[in-house]
Amino acid sequence: MLSSLQWTLAILLLIASDTLAAPRPNTASPQAIPLVRRAHNRRTTQDWGEWAKNHREILTSKYGGSSTGVAKRGSGTNLLTNQNADSSYYGSVAIGTPPVSFNVILDTGSSDLWVADNACVTGCKNVPKFQSSQSSTFKNMSKPFNIQYGSGEAAGILGSDTVQMAGFSVANQVFGVCNAVSSGLLNNPVSGLLGLAWNTIATSGATPLWQTLAGSGAWDSPVMSFHLTRFVDDSQAQTLEPGGSFTMGFVNQSLYTGDIDFQNIPSGSESYWILPLTEITVQGASMTFPSTQSSFAAIDTGTTLVGGPSSAIAQLYSQIPGSAPGSGNFEGYYTYPCNTQVNVSLAFGGKSWSISPQDFRLTQLTQSECLGAFFELTTGGSAPAWIVGDTFLKNVYSVFRFNPPSIGFAALSEAATAQNDADGPIPSATIGSAAAAVSASSGTDAVNSAAVSAYSFSPVVLMIAGVVAGVVSLL
Ligand SMILES: *[C@@H]1O[C@H](CO)[C@@H](O)[C@H](O)[C@H]1NC(C)=O
Ligand SMILES: *[C@@H]1O[C@H](CO)[C@@H](O)[C@H](O)[C@H]1NC(C)=O
Ligand SMILES: *[C@@H]1O[C@H](CO)[C@@H](O)[C@H](O)[C@H]1NC(C)=O
Repeated sequence: MLSSLQWTLAILLLIASDTLAAPRPNTASPQAIPLVRRAHNRRTTQDWGEWAKNHREILTSKYGGSSTGVAKRGSGTNLLTNQNADSSYYGSVAIGTPPVSFNVILDTGSSDLWVADNACVTGCKNVPKFQSSQSSTFKNMSKPFNIQYGSGEAAGILGSDTVQMAGFSVANQVFGVCNAVSSGLLNNPVSGLLGLAWNTIATSGATPLWQTLAGSGAWDSPVMSFHLTRFVDDSQAQTLEPGGSFTMGFVNQSLYTGDIDFQNIPSGSESYWILPLTEITVQGASMTFPSTQSSFAAIDTGTTLVGGPSSAIAQLYSQIPGSAPGSGNFEGYYTYPCNTQVNVSLAFGGKSWSISPQDFRLTQLTQSECLGAFFELTTGGSAPAWIVGDTFLKNVYSVFRFNPPSIGFAALSEAATAQNDADGPIPSATIGSAAAAVSASSGTDAVNSAAVSAYSFSPVVLMIAGVVAGVVSLL
């Protein structure tokens, strides 16, 4: 029990410290775990094939050849890493000429790309940094950039450069080059964050990478999708585990079964990825909400847990006998008896999707008390009342559709759920083949127009890292 508590405290301290290589209990020296510790094990012929292809493309790309000879590529996949037992999920982008790859948190709850600058002085220790002087296509826009999250901020200047991801390339992508980052926002090997929400909430004013690609027709299909793995229930989980995958321009039909249930985001609210949360079922009891703004939820891969209005959260826990509000550091959270399996389902105007009891159970605090993954959140400005993060998203295949603007969920396939708690290599940051080259449309004018500020809320402690990106609000 004590070790679970230590683990929880480690999570709690995570934001405030750089010691994040968050000791799982029984992990003697977490910082010493090599990041590619399993990469060389059990390589199959297919693995070697993928390695060989990737290796060749990286070198071709590095030395300026045309990589595969294909002029346009309509879809791509980026493998994810699960950091600290489902706390955050990162993928990779490549920036500059020649391209250099960086790991970035993939965040559907914000809209800016930023990375740590070579000159970064705070919060970037041990983090790979972007060296603008090494890129022949980098432009220094000499405009300040500052983004605030519930758990901290990142500040620097705006620049633009060629950015590649999953085989796509966008020239002149505006992004933040940050030299001051709040402690705990970045944890090696993560160098920054890629916002995947809409341009209206971009602090930089720039069109987000995904939106440039989707809007220019570079994708076979105007969708991006996520499959996220679960390790929260694995006491042997390492700091880094395989995280699932992110796709651009297609949905991977091997990862879900049945139909994708698409629900349109409320008209005119392209900012966060918003859906009204219409019903919560807990232990079989239903709580319904009107599909008005008071029930709007941001579907946010960059947030670890699920936050909602205190009255609704209290009502939810009232269905779990023996649950009680937390105090001290756990204020805003609830505990419940560990011998209770909690079944919660969420509906967003369409089908209802259940969250596994393993995801609801964030951790065990004492012999009998467990901590729930739903917590009280007070949002401000135009931010939605609910932030629905990875606690939910691990349980579905999720699809973010540009046109018509909508979000779809589907049931995970066996091929997807088999990746939960499963050993595997940690993907390395990739450059990918640059093919469908697109130029970012947003000029520098836009930079002046976005006055985004943010609020912070108190129970951020368990919403890890960049993660709380979901709560930047337009005031
Ligand atoms: C951009 O230019 C400013 C001066 O306008 C300078 O202070 C800063 O270091 C430059 N940053 C980068 C990343 O080149
Ligand atoms: C789709 O997912 C399966 C199962 O994880 C994987 O083997 C396959 O490579 C993926 N396809 C693409 C094109 O990414
Ligand atoms: C939760 O759901 C599982 C399977 O769906 C069921 O076996 C269990 O009894 C449910 N628990 C409660 C408390 O409703």
